[in-house]
Amino acid sequence: MARPHILILGAPGAGKGTQSANIAEEFDVEHVTTGDALRANKQMDISEMDTEYDTPAEYMDRGELVPDEVVNAIVDEALSQADGYVLDGYPRNLEQAEELAEMTDLDVVLYLDVDEDELVHRLTGRRLDPETGDIYHVEYNPPEDPEVEGRLEQREDDTEETVKERLRVYRENTEPVVEYYDDEGVLERIDGGQAPDEVWEDVRATIEDAA
Ligand code: AP5
Repeated sequence: MARPHILILGAPGAGKGTQSANIAEEFDVEHVTTGDALRANKQMDISEMDTEYDTPAEYMDRGELVPDEVVNAIVDEALSQADGYVLDGYPRNLEQAEELAEMTDLDVVLYLDVDEDELVHRLTGRRLDPETGDIYHVEYNPPEDPEVEGRLEQREDDTEETVKERLRVYRENTEPVVEYYDDEGVLERIDGGQAPDEVWEDVRATIEDAA
């Protein structure tokens, strides 16, 4: 197929960012991620829009969803410029899923399925390299280089309290999106509780089968 249009779904901490990096490299597609796009524009002034708070930061630091109007525009712009892509972090609610259906067709919809206790453990132990954007975990995937280890940072919304709120928001808003694709018969469920390399084997095989 031409460069594929891939959607990756899963709860916070399911491994979407980790697997999207593999997908982008292997299938030569763009990684379109609303989380990273919003983090890069956290202080953007959205007060002209009909929103409760004035910046994305105020929603993100509480673990709440940023308003659809802001996020839909980011995704529309990014997808219109990408040949193939892996879309990560969107749609987060049924309204966004309907918007996405207007914007593009999807070749594969992956869902990484992981237990909730494991999600909390993964998120509170996650660390990021601010220079390369690489994702690590203090226990599962620590960096080998002490210089990298010394500069790792924790994401502001990875504290236990905000993680619990993000998971609540996920259950309320995003689980219906998973059901929506499942009802359409296009959802490819992957056991995201396995080790990262095993998850990757399943992800790669699923995308290749869809080709
Ligand atoms: P976003 O950045 O999209 O965060 P998220 O969906 O909460 O997902 P994460 O990035 O936290 O997790 P991940 O699944 O990518 O896991 P990772 O691979 O890092 O969104 C942040 C905020 O932005 C939202 O709360 C909201 O405010 C806003 N926002 C974003 N999109 C929006 C939208 N569409 N609408 C409205 N608002 C929006 O893995 C986690 C950890 O586990 C890492 O440490 C990793 O090393 C480790 N790990 C990964 N895989 C494995 C494995 N198989 N085994 C063991 N450890 C593993």
